[in-house]
Amino acid sequence: MRVDEIDRNSVDHVLTTTRAVRQRLDLERYVPLDVVRECLEIGLQAPNGFNMQNWRWLIVTDPEKRKALAEIVRKIELPFLEAMESQIEEGDEQTWRVAKSSRFLAENIEHVPVHVIPCTTSKVDDDRKLFKQLGYDTDLVNMAASSVYGELWPAAWSFMLALRSRGLGSSLTMIHLGAEPEAAELLSIPEDVSQGGLIPVAWFKGDDFKPANRRPLKEVTFYESWGNTVPRG
Ligand SMILES: Cc1cc2nc3c(=O)[nH]c(=O)nc-3n(C[C@H](O)[C@H](O)[C@H](O)COP(=O)(O)O)c2cc1C
Repeated sequence: MRVDEIDRNSVDHVLTTTRAVRQRLDLERYVPLDVVRECLEIGLQAPNGFNMQNWRWLIVTDPEKRKALAEIVRKIELPFLEAMESQIEEGDEQTWRVAKSSRFLAENIEHVPVHVIPCTTSKVDDDRKLFKQLGYDTDLVNMAASSVYGELWPAAWSFMLALRSRGLGSSLTMIHLGAEPEAAELLSIPEDVSQGGLIPVAWFKGDDFKPANRRPLKEVTFYESWGNTVPRG
């Protein structure tokens, strides 16, 4: 397909309206594995470190396992939400909405028909040791963390975009990593594998997703040096 044949409006629409779907996930409707597989295939086209493709994708549908995962999520998330909620300022409706919606997901996550756990066969500590062996004399913890987990997010996001364009909703969550070893044991994930998060997947109810109200580009983007405004042109 040539560039001028790409339907840019549709591409931009999907890119700007793929929201974290929680309260509008359809908890009743069956999700065929084939659609999950198709969207993961799209995800696998994403960039990744040195094209090593250390990513692994664990799809969980078994109700007992989803229930056990939900308990892990709630154990970590409910105290976290309580702490966050106590700090939300009155009138900050946007943050209240995120908290309410996150609480809904935590309370119902076992009913979301598919859980996808992005994993990677590398570990931050192993990468740090490797960098040391390669002769770097500083602790390259940021480089290791970025290369281990950064491997997952472009592919995970492509997966979520592909779901969105097929009428499914999802949300990138990480809270269960607060008890990562418990999830690893439940799902027989080997010790040398890192989990990146948990993406609940379901058909979504309704279809009126809109671009989110984000901080203006000019507040978060600099030119040539930190703090400089990007000129027109
Ligand atoms: C690093 C990261 C961690 C996140 N963790 C969670 C989570 O544990 N639970 C959850 O419900 N949403 C989680 N989210 C989703 C965000 O809350 C959501 O993207 C944000 O509120 C903006 O909403 P929007 O994506 O609908 O625009 C996470 C997103 C990112 C990027």
